[in-house]
Amino acid sequence: MEIIENPQRMQERANQLRAEDKTIGFVPTMGYLHEGHLSLMRRARGECQVSVLSIFVNPTQFGPREDLDRYPRDMEGDLQKAASEQVDLVYLPSARDMYPAGFRTYVTVEELSEKLCGASRPGHFRGVTTVVLKLFNLVKPHRAYFGEKDYQQLTIIRKMVEDLNLDLQIVGMPTVRESDGLAMSSRNAYLSAGERRSALSLSRALKRAGEMVAGGERSAALLREEIRRTIEEEPNTQIDYIAVSHPLTLKDLERIAGPALIALAVQVGSTRLIDNCIVEAHAQ
Ligand code: PAF
Repeated sequence: MEIIENPQRMQERANQLRAEDKTIGFVPTMGYLHEGHLSLMRRARGECQVSVLSIFVNPTQFGPREDLDRYPRDMEGDLQKAASEQVDLVYLPSARDMYPAGFRTYVTVEELSEKLCGASRPGHFRGVTTVVLKLFNLVKPHRAYFGEKDYQQLTIIRKMVEDLNLDLQIVGMPTVRESDGLAMSSRNAYLSAGERRSALSLSRALKRAGEMVAGGERSAALLREEIRRTIEEEPNTQIDYIAVSHPLTLKDLERIAGPALIALAVQVGSTRLIDNCIVEAHAQ
């Protein structure tokens, strides 16, 4: 497995691979890899001739009071996992190389970046789109793979690719869950045993909402109310938002009349968790 740290070297290597007509599949991550990331790597490896993984805890997507300093890191374990998934190349940039002194250019996908998580994490998606575009320019992938657990992130990245005519394909992959339903996330490492039990209320609430829609419920307000009740039953939970939204525009829906995104963010103890599902109203 090749490891590259230097951005110029990464770009040269990408140019070389493209000159050899190799298709490049790219999985950008912040490390502390779990089964969700591994599913993206497997897909990249299956679909492309060369698979590239990046590990970079991107400072510009963390707010001043967020968890940048304590974000979980395990470089040795991550490299072992990447090697056992037969990743071809790992790109490990440094913050100084990605954001040298005098760095002044940021990319913002308007409106979509202000909704849902963007409302409580101002600047977060500006940091995400900026780093993702930089990584695309360095790795030059034909396909890039993202998890649907970060549904808003995936939607915003797709919009950036469309609006800026980027010549690559974005592939979204389903959320990978623990056997009890908890969506896999590097931040689950922060949870105590009690908090982890409370965290199960997120997937339980989404499942309940999905059942209600399947049973004919169409009112977003009633779905949100049921989700709120399910989550607030558990100790140490503080709801940031519960949204029933259009899956492309992320605009609030009052009634479900087609596919809809149900997304939520909940503070469990000191850990902010997100989860979502897509529901679909069929004619009755
Ligand atoms: O989803 C993540 O891990 C990050 O937001 C990403 C896409 C790697 C950008 O830093």
